[in-house]
Parts: sequence; structure tokens; C-alpha cells
Amino acid sequence: MEIKKELEQLLASVKIKIDKIDNLNELNEIKSGYLGKKSIFSDYMQEMKKLSSEDKPLFGQQINIAKTTLLGFFDSAKQRIEESEINGKLESKSVDVTLPGKSMALGAKHLISQVIEEIEDLFVGMGYTVEEGPEIEYDKYNFEMLNLPKSHPARDMQDSFYITEEMLLRTHTSPVQVRTMLQNKGQKPIKIICPGKVYRKDDDDQTHSHQFVQVEALVVDESASLADLKGTLSILAKKMFGESRQIRLRPSYFPFTEPSVEVDVSCHKCNGAGCSMCKGTGWIEILGAGMVNNAVLEAAGYDSTKYQGFALGVGVERIAILKYGIDDIRAFYTNDLRFNRQFK
Ligand code: PHE
Repeated sequence: MEIKKELEQLLASVKIKIDKIDNLNELNEIKSGYLGKKSIFSDYMQEMKKLSSEDKPLFGQQINIAKTTLLGFFDSAKQRIEESEINGKLESKSVDVTLPGKSMALGAKHLISQVIEEIEDLFVGMGYTVEEGPEIEYDKYNFEMLNLPKSHPARDMQDSFYITEEMLLRTHTSPVQVRTMLQNKGQKPIKIICPGKVYRKDDDDQTHSHQFVQVEALVVDESASLADLKGTLSILAKKMFGESRQIRLRPSYFPFTEPSVEVDVSCHKCNGAGCSMCKGTGWIEILGAGMVNNAVLEAAGYDSTKYQGFALGVGVERIAILKYGIDDIRAFYTNDLRFNRQFK
């Protein structure tokens, strides 16, 4: 019975001791002091060996009860300390949700992409579909089938980067129109636009770029007329430069269209009065267009006595330059972020 009292006192004093502890290292040290290899409890075990076999079981039982209780003390102390450590961390690292957030730099569409999408939206709204084609193109599709046989002098209008005798970087997106006509096998009407990069062997300067973007449109059916073309051009000009814009058509020449026209829009800056933007004329040239040449229709398998069509081709950089008063075409390609960010 002696031992029971002794153990009770021991437990009580340990409890008081560990209740004051607030860090795990210290707690573990104390724990091994009581329960480890050279501890009070290991001494008790030594003592037990000396007892008679009669006294041993009771003594052992008391020791075990005390040991289990002690372990319970340490476990709950450990839990208490861990909890208060976590709470301490939470308190010191609390987040002030009312602080303004860090803003992330978001990218935006390049001006050229914006203008392409604007043109696409307009034409898709009028029932056109968007077609694409390869940038490395056959001479056959880029020139020959567009009424520009080899050695035709009008090939000079579009100086070309040749890859082989028969292949080149396309100089316009008109070959996509040829490909579409061939796909439709001279049977179905066509109503497409072809946006894409084109390449010409120009020396780059303020107004020239060896690479630029074009959007061409092609309509082929049994009734497409010059009046339809003019109406379409007028809608395009108003969409790009404002509702009050007028257009005028001047006769021009392209091998693939007959008749061909050059399209001017009334100056959006001076409203036609004459300024530096329109060089005093009140008009700005924006694109070329025309009725699809019968030779082109026939080459692509369309019966030109039954089908007719119109086409137009617009330079996207030119539109953007005019619309936003940009003075150097190279700005589109040199990727100075200060330039790009103006059009977010
Ligand atoms: N393909 C012509 C060019 O790049 C533009 C154009 C297209 C002209 C359609 C007339 C009709 O110069």
C-alpha cells in the first residue's frame, strides 16, 4: 500500500510540473526523465525484481496503472501545446482581407488581331464563312489560276519570295479563294473571307513591310453584281471608319478581276474637307476589288455564263494605320509594349 501512495504523490507533482510547460522539447525531456531508460520508473522496475513473488504482482499492477496515467498526462499536454502553437501561428499570420490585392499584368489582343476580328465579325454577320490556307503556296494557286501566267508583267505588282520554282510565300490570300472554288467543283455558290499573313519582297520602311495581313472576300453565285460589291464595300467602310463615311470607286486593274476598282473612303479625320491624313483630297484609298474575271472562274471550274462573282482585298495594317493615326507600319511587328498597350 505504501507504493500506491508514493505513486499518487509522484503523479500529482508531475502533473503540476507539466501543466506549466509550453514547449514540446521541454515536455519530451521531462517525459524521458520519468519514463526513459534511466528514469524513476526504470528504478521502480529494478526495485520490483527484488520483491518476493507474493508482493510482485500488486506492485507491478500499481506501477502499470501509474505509467498509463502518466502517459495520458504527457499526451494531453502534447496536444495542448500543439494546439496553442497552431493558434499562435494563425494569429501572427492572419490575413487582412480588406487590403487591396496585387494586380496581375494581363495580356491583351494585338491591334492587328483586333482589326481582323472586327472584319470577321462584320462578314460572318452577313453570312460569310472564314477560310484559311497555307502561307507557303504553289505558284499555280497564287498566280497562274488567278490569270497571272508565268512571265505576266503584272506579277511585278507583287514581288515574291520564291522557295522553289513552283513554290513561294503567298503574296496575297487570293489562293485560298482558288482552293475554295476548286473544292466546290464549279457547282456550289461561295461566300467566304480569307484572313491571313502574306509576304512581299519589299524593303521594310515606314510604309512597307515584307510581311503583312490581308483579308480578302469572295462571293460567287448566279447573281452577284457590281452593285452588291459596292453595297458590301460601303458597309465595310462604315464599320471601319464610322457611319457617316462615303465611298467612291475608281477604275483600276487587277488580272483576277474585270472590271477592277480602287476604293476610296471619305476622310474620317476632316470629313472630306481636306487635311494631312488625306493629303488634301478628302479621300483615302483603302482597298482593291472587282468582279471576278471570267478566266479565273473558268480555270477553277465555274461556268462563267452561269456564275459570276465579286472579290475584295483589304490590308489590315493599312486600316489600323488610318484608323489610329499610326505613322510607322513597323510598329506592328517590333513589339514595343508601350505601343501595344495603347490599344488594350
Ligand atoms: N489580291 C489583291 C492584292 O493583294 C487584292 C484584291 C483582292 C484585289 C480581290 C481585287 C480583288 O493586291
